[in-house]
Amino acid sequence: MKGLFITFEGGEGSGKTTLINKVYDKLLASGKKVYKTREPGGVEIAEQIRSVILNVNNTKMDKRTEALLYAASRRQHLIEVVIPKLEEGYIVLCDRYIDSSLAYQGYAREIGIEEVLNVNLFATDGLLPDKTIFVDVTPEVGLARIKDNNRNQNRLDLEKMNFHKMVYDGYKKLCDMFPDRFISIDGNKDRELVLDDCMKIINDLIK
Ligand code: TMP
Repeated sequence: MKGLFITFEGGEGSGKTTLINKVYDKLLASGKKVYKTREPGGVEIAEQIRSVILNVNNTKMDKRTEALLYAASRRQHLIEVVIPKLEEGYIVLCDRYIDSSLAYQGYAREIGIEEVLNVNLFATDGLLPDKTIFVDVTPEVGLARIKDNNRNQNRLDLEKMNFHKMVYDGYKKLCDMFPDRFISIDGNKDRELVLDDCMKIINDLIK
């Protein structure tokens, strides 16, 4: 495909969403064809699935059901948005993708990274990102940020600290498993410095 598929990953409060917005603005200002989207969601059917997954009342949800719903929402979004945009030559910036399922459902929910990867390879026809930027912020710092921001909390935010620590450890494992695709940036730095680090990576990729 002609475009470039870049995904952003990190735990709650890592700052990746703000970062994507700024990266998007910069790329757009420099005249690039760039598209910004997010998971779970990004298109109508996937947004509907998102609201089922994140509904705080769905406390009975089984962990494999959760993994399958994320994979279903991912496929719909991929088919409707990501693949067409890549074919048109866009740089697609996606807030979360397969690796969120590997870290949250595979590792933290203990389904197993390999098992969740298999389900997701089916869902995506094996389409992996060109680069995955992991915004490295510990769960202690990330969750404190969310609390300070007064952001609406979803079903996964309400998990205990131990779950978020597992998610963080899961991401660290993924960085080791996919060293060519993953690149980690220090999300504790000043926001402008985090943006600089990120733009260096993306500009190298574009070259
Ligand atoms: P968001 O807060 O980045 O919008 O993501 C929504 C929540 O869904 C967040 O807690 C991470 C979680 N999530 C998974 O557990 N698995 C996935 O595959 C994705 C995409 C998100």
